[in-house]
Amino acid sequence: MSRKLIVGNWKMNGNLASNDALVRELLGGIGQPACDVAVCPPGIYVAQLQSLLAGSPIDLGVQNVSMNENGAYTGDVSAEMLKDYGVRYAIVGHSERRQHQAENDVHVALKAKRALAAGITPIVCVGETLRERESGMTEFIVKRQLSAVIHLNGHCISEIVVAYEPVWAIGTGQTATPEQAQSVHAVLRAQIKAATEKADRVRILYGGSMNAANAAELLSQPDIDGGLIGGASLKSADFLKIIAAARA
Ligand code: 13P
Repeated sequence: MSRKLIVGNWKMNGNLASNDALVRELLGGIGQPACDVAVCPPGIYVAQLQSLLAGSPIDLGVQNVSMNENGAYTGDVSAEMLKDYGVRYAIVGHSERRQHQAENDVHVALKAKRALAAGITPIVCVGETLRERESGMTEFIVKRQLSAVIHLNGHCISEIVVAYEPVWAIGTGQTATPEQAQSVHAVLRAQIKAATEKADRVRILYGGSMNAANAAELLSQPDIDGGLIGGASLKSADFLKIIAAARA
């Protein structure tokens, strides 16, 4: 497996001044990381972040991308537009968007397709709710979510990143145990292997209350190739500790 990937999802947080301070703190402490690193600010700040991150070891990502190419889609931002600003990754299908913006598997698959066509790596989020876990549906749900993306994107699937984010672990402080996460990652790995000969290129990140204290153990699991971090990515010291924990 290639280098691990640590991605900060800032969600709807920050402003010009706090973004500037956070990035400067990160760049001051990051040195030569042993993993790949990206941050995903709110879309309005991509130009600011492009300039702050230029020439640094931190790549730029976004939290969403339009499922349409261009045209009369008020409020949308296309993958090509994001590419103009040096965006390297686009989170698609985050559970908060599935929940609050009624995104479904088809939308997510289309968003992944648009990103791939523009040369942006989609970070495809999958994950079950607590109710789904308690009723034994975890495997069924994550496989269904990923299979929509595989189905629409064919051999390009080797160019995606997958993020397993159990909904019940997001922002709750209730992290999946390393064993719980690893067992779902293994299911996803097998699904990707069945879809492409290049499955080894696909990194599967864990997300959901990952923090400076629990990152090393999660990241030591055989099928956990990195992290998608919310709250802890807004604190430079914590995010830097997670980056330091992510050795190949
Ligand atoms: P938290 O790390 O705040 O739980 O958020 C995880 C997440 O949703 C990242 O996309």
